[in-house]
Amino acid sequence: MATVLITGGAGFIGSHTCLVLLQAGHRLVILDDFSNSSPRAVERLAELAGLIPTGPGSWGDALRLVQGDIRHDHSLDLAFAAAQSSGPAGLDAPVEAVIHFAGLKAVGESVAEPLRYWDVNLHGSRTLLEAMERHSCRCLVFSSSATLYGYPETVPIPETAPVQPINPYGHTKAAVEMLLADVAGCGAGATAEMESPNGWRIARLRYFNPVGAHPSGQIGEDPDGIPNNLFPFVSQVAVGRRPSLRVFGSDWPTPDGTGVRDYIHVMDLAEGHRMALEALLAEEPQLLTLNLGSGRGISVLEVARAFEAASGRPIPVELVARRPGDAAVTVADPALAARRLGWRTQLGLDAICRDGWAWQSANPHGYAA
Ligand code: NAD
Ligand code: WQD
Repeated sequence: MATVLITGGAGFIGSHTCLVLLQAGHRLVILDDFSNSSPRAVERLAELAGLIPTGPGSWGDALRLVQGDIRHDHSLDLAFAAAQSSGPAGLDAPVEAVIHFAGLKAVGESVAEPLRYWDVNLHGSRTLLEAMERHSCRCLVFSSSATLYGYPETVPIPETAPVQPINPYGHTKAAVEMLLADVAGCGAGATAEMESPNGWRIARLRYFNPVGAHPSGQIGEDPDGIPNNLFPFVSQVAVGRRPSLRVFGSDWPTPDGTGVRDYIHVMDLAEGHRMALEALLAEEPQLLTLNLGSGRGISVLEVARAFEAASGRPIPVELVARRPGDAAVTVADPALAARRLGWRTQLGLDAICRDGWAWQSANPHGYAA
């Protein structure tokens, strides 16, 4: 059992990971500014974990919620203090590790507002690392992304594939990966598995396409405005918020002509974080870089059909031009995560659509309802 600071823990992937960690007996402090999430997500995950509220932002000796910004030393110090303080204010246990989800993630927005993306994603990560040094915590799991691979040259994509992002969001993730390699003492030549001469324990987890929701339908993805990504868009068509799905390109070199991706159930992803965290804490200092994906490719039309079947609602599709910046196929080679963590995905497309629909149908307007 460890005490873990979770930045961005109210967000989509963070909320599911917090639930899995609480159920495994870890104590958590969540730091989130709610710029893209709601405190309701934390209330609901706490309830799913069977925790009883003991005060504002406080659930016994298991969970604290701190509202604040990762770019501010003061917020970070408050979060570390919420772990260490004794009595009702704290968990009475110093932070042993950090899982760093907080950041901005919309590719199109990153093109329009590159400075904001560099500020939150890179400056925020650097400020967090400095706070970790101040509080003698040298164990970090970082949310990286398959977006780093840009237009991949080989599929399935191994961790050794070139890092060649093609948009500002991807550039910020590549920059943080480099920063982490330097902090670990591994430098520019970092490979997927390296010892850290600086005594850091760091995992850089490159997620493919995280989708789905907790099977209870109580927590899930709650995008602001019109969704950019396929799954939230399809769910909103099924629930009647959007008339039809525009399929971006039907002339890709794929079996049905539509784009192919490696969709990963968010509960599988949450387990991957738990396993990476526990491996880091148990093993010698290291820098570990892992793909988290299923290794299976699914097309846009397959997603639409599976979601129709799961929801019993029609998903009308309209075939339109390709979206700039898309690759035809991105699929993970997940062998290293299997070897290093014993982790592999357990849940396929049917479970993804079933659980995504459980969330969307029970919360047609997300946490706002
Ligand atoms: P999300 O937006 O749902 O969660 C991010 C959380 O961080 C939100 O709760 C938001 O309020 C918080 N946050 C943002 N800026 C903050 C700041 N300055 N200070 C404190 N909190 C802040 O996104 P998500 O889908 O859960 O993604 C989590 C991480 O995983 C991100 O770093 C993202 O880049 C990465 N990632 C996501 C995907 C994906 O498709 N969802 C894929 C690969 C990588
Ligand atoms: C999937 C497929 C689209 C919407 C993005 C980010 C990536 C990562 C995950 C954070 C593609 C097609 C989509 C629609 C469609 N995020 N599509 N109609 O682009 O693989 O990855 O999210 O790190 O960085 O780029 O995911 O869900 O947007 O698209 O036809 O309305 O669905 O063309 O083939 P993507 P996506």
